[in-house]
Amino acid sequence: MKEQVEKLKQEAVEKIESAKDLKEVNELKVLYMGKKGPVTELTSHMKELSNDERKDFGMLLNDLKQELNSKFEEKIKKYEEEALNAKLASEQIDITLPGTKINNGAPSILEKVIEETEEVFMSMGYDVVDGPEVELDKFNFELLNIPKGHAARDAQDTFYLKDDEILLRSQTSGVQARVMLAHEGKEPIRMICPGKTYRRDSDDATHSHQFMQIEGLLVEQDPISLCDLKGTFEEVAKKLFGADTETRFRPSYYQFTEPSVEMDISCFVCKGKGCSLCKNSGWITVGGAGMVHPNVLNMCGYPADKWNGFAFGFGAERLAMLKYGINDIRTFYNVDLREVKNFDRRDSE
Ligand code: DAH
Repeated sequence: MKEQVEKLKQEAVEKIESAKDLKEVNELKVLYMGKKGPVTELTSHMKELSNDERKDFGMLLNDLKQELNSKFEEKIKKYEEEALNAKLASEQIDITLPGTKINNGAPSILEKVIEETEEVFMSMGYDVVDGPEVELDKFNFELLNIPKGHAARDAQDTFYLKDDEILLRSQTSGVQARVMLAHEGKEPIRMICPGKTYRRDSDDATHSHQFMQIEGLLVEQDPISLCDLKGTFEEVAKKLFGADTETRFRPSYYQFTEPSVEMDISCFVCKGKGCSLCKNSGWITVGGAGMVHPNVLNMCGYPADKWNGFAFGFGAERLAMLKYGINDIRTFYNVDLREVKNFDRRDSE
């Protein structure tokens, strides 16, 4: 019996030693130590022995079990460690490598200028409102004192969607009429409306069939004059283009304002001396404006004998081109990150 135990031990130890991987060790463990294995088989012979013999044989078997178990554990531990180390090595991260660059775009320059302009007007109590880009002839022209057949329509030929009635708005001025009608002549109005407009235009460095305007309207019962308009314009110009910016009005003509003006700012490049940006005039035009025409007030439910006010319209692209020195309007629509990134001030803001 004793030799049998020794032989079994030797044989098992050899096999454990030469097992090639964890799977093989585990299989051997089941084979030798399992219920149907030789160790259990030997134990079952115990009952055939005398008391003394049983005691010795019991000790022998215990030794055998302990020895084999510790050999198995040792081997299992070795292979588990090896597997873990291999896994760690394969998943190693080289923290000295530079990280993956995140390409996170930049805000649209046009949107930034519009937001800045909104801030200035909001600080003066103006609401920012929206209007539809697909507009009725009534709002785009008629309620602005431009009846059907009026010559002024030629300069604002646009894209007609249905007959002569539904069109892509050629100006944001129609929002004036919408807002006045919505307020039913009941309360004063201060609003601006930035938005897209469309015209039949040839596309070049300074023209686009689609561009943005920032419309503005102030209507009150207290007397309002061109001085109020001038003061408002001056405030906006200084905030957007710097405190030393000068402003001036030139007489102009719009159907929905009377009198009408062009709004100029002093050229911030040459400070009024004359340069290529201002075409040597020292001044740059940034929009049109005027006192709201009595016909418009009357048609829109704000009787002109009680109400008065001013209106204005800035070209948003023009403001942005001047502010950021952009000389091609198409820069805004190409969405080329290489261009836009140059104007991304987020880091320094
Ligand atoms: N809508 C005009 C245009 O597209 C700009 C404009 C001029 C708007 C005078 C106004 C205004 O509100 O009063 O040329």
